[in-house]
Amino acid sequence: MNPFQINGSGSERGGIHRLSFFGFLLLLFFTLVFSFCKESKPLSPEAEAGRGLYMANCLACHNANPKLDGAVGPSVANSSYELLEARMRGEYPPGYVPKRQSTAMTRFNFTEAQIKSLEEFLKQ
Ligand code: HEC
Repeated sequence: MNPFQINGSGSERGGIHRLSFFGFLLLLFFTLVFSFCKESKPLSPEAEAGRGLYMANCLACHNANPKLDGAVGPSVANSSYELLEARMRGEYPPGYVPKRQSTAMTRFNFTEAQIKSLEEFLKQ
């Protein structure tokens, strides 16, 4: 017997404490796994390509999270193909009201497929 135990009821209490401790750890583990899975929802290959383009070319001015405004550029989440395509030429689709009146954005020479992948990535 453990010399530090005074009587049987003490050891029983210790057992229950240990059980709830592991129960707590297990709960914590599943909460973490669950929140991690929610964070990193798998992107389609096309959106993944768009993400690469966005991270490489747009981050200088736009936010890493497209839903938020960036240092220079506004939020761009859910931009349509038409808007993206026009933006690459430094323009806007007819009738579109820009979020910012500046004309600071760089022009890009992207292919149709690249702009489509950007659109796919920005859909949230
Ligand atoms: C040099 C900084 C800069 C870079 C790089 C840049 N942008 Fe922009 N973007 C801006 C600014 C500033 C605006 C606001 C209008 C303007 O000044 O042209 C804007 C506006 C936009 C808009 C229109 C938002 C709205 O609804 O009015 C979209 C869409 C956009 N950017 C997408 C992109 C994408 C996609 C990339 C990468 C391929 C990119 N931008 C790279 C600065 C930038």
